[in-house]
Amino acid sequence: MNLRVRPVSGLRGAIDLPGDKSITHRALLLGSLSAGASRIRGYLDSGDCRATMGCLRALGVPVEQEAEDTLTVRGAGLRGWREPENVLNCVRSGTTMRLMAGLLAGQPFYSVLGGEAQLLRRPMDRVAQPLRLMGAQITGRQSGKLPPLTLVGAPLHGIEYTLPVASAQVKSCLLLAGLYAEGMTTLIEPGPSRDHTERMLRARGVELSSQGLCHAVRGPANDLTPLDLTVPGDFSSAAYFLVGALLVEGSEVRLRHVGVNPTRTGLLDALRAMGAEITLLDEREEGGEPVADLLVRSQGLRATTVAGDLVPRMIDEFPILALAATQAEGVTRVRDAAELRVKETDRIATIVEALRALGARIEPRPDGFDVEGPTPLVGAAVDSFGDHRLAMTLAVAGLIARGETTVLRAEWIADSFPGFEPRLQALAPGALS
Ligand code: S3P
Repeated sequence: MNLRVRPVSGLRGAIDLPGDKSITHRALLLGSLSAGASRIRGYLDSGDCRATMGCLRALGVPVEQEAEDTLTVRGAGLRGWREPENVLNCVRSGTTMRLMAGLLAGQPFYSVLGGEAQLLRRPMDRVAQPLRLMGAQITGRQSGKLPPLTLVGAPLHGIEYTLPVASAQVKSCLLLAGLYAEGMTTLIEPGPSRDHTERMLRARGVELSSQGLCHAVRGPANDLTPLDLTVPGDFSSAAYFLVGALLVEGSEVRLRHVGVNPTRTGLLDALRAMGAEITLLDEREEGGEPVADLLVRSQGLRATTVAGDLVPRMIDEFPILALAATQAEGVTRVRDAAELRVKETDRIATIVEALRALGARIEPRPDGFDVEGPTPLVGAAVDSFGDHRLAMTLAVAGLIARGETTVLRAEWIADSFPGFEPRLQALAPGALS
């Protein structure tokens, strides 16, 4: 499916965002380990989250839609999963595969985690190696580096481990394995990655302590208490409309009920450093997560540097940040972001290629990129490279690029943001033809 986008004279109105992807994955998994029925309202019904639902069903856990926006997960406790009959299909979802690996490592049965070509290229040694240190029997292609992963149930024991990269997927995988391990599993992160797993495990009665970047969980844990959760809107989805409204003159947009967990909102800091005024309204806490409405108006931007601890706090937002930087005065520099090379695509390479096709001045670096602005963009037909975040970035670029922009293979957007197009249409009537 191709998406054709034209410039508009402003984004205006108020919208709700679909549920947070990271929180939905975790709610499904933790619900499946609880003793009893968990209710998840406002869950994200995206391709990636459906992959997690499919894996859980294959493990014998009933996952049913109760009302339009509510899922019920009927868990049978920490030992309630059953040996799957076939390969567990993680489709294109790295979160599904890495978090499932942590939970399967301690199960008394055989399982295989597989998926589509895009996922089969992504590194899994970052979870397989520390899981082996905990006693897991786990193998994969290329000496255990790549999926499919094969796991044979084994008794686990706690370890003390320093993560080589700031990754919430690795941290969460090991914390979840720690629920099944004998003794303490202690993890030290090199930077602040998203902390939804820690918040949600603690709320389920798990003995888990966090001091700065050090997290410790004591196992074996008791069955988790069931969830009754409303999932906040996904900040990473809100990011496209935040930047769209900043860049398109005459815009004023209110994004309602968005999760503003500080381990996720690095883009707000970066945009504010670029001169953007974004107001948080009606700040509240819901289900253990901070939530707010975001108000944003169009505004001129200046260049900034993004590096260090800010990087993991906005790891999914670099495609849209790069677009914002094309319109900012000066050279925006991104450093310490080599992780971008192992996302759904090599995002340093694909961001550079896609934005250059629209006329952007952007140079790749081994661990980031430099963008020179402001540069007028010119519409073209550009491939999404099968990367949902790149596809949405290109669609927002189409709102400011001269002429028409065609996003090729835009159907991948549904991996994280089903309902992106109708929301774009609601805020910017006439943008999509
Ligand atoms: C996620 C963590 C991040 C992020 C991904 C979701 C999670 O990955 O890019 O979209 O839900 O834990 P890394 O932990 O690999 O950085």
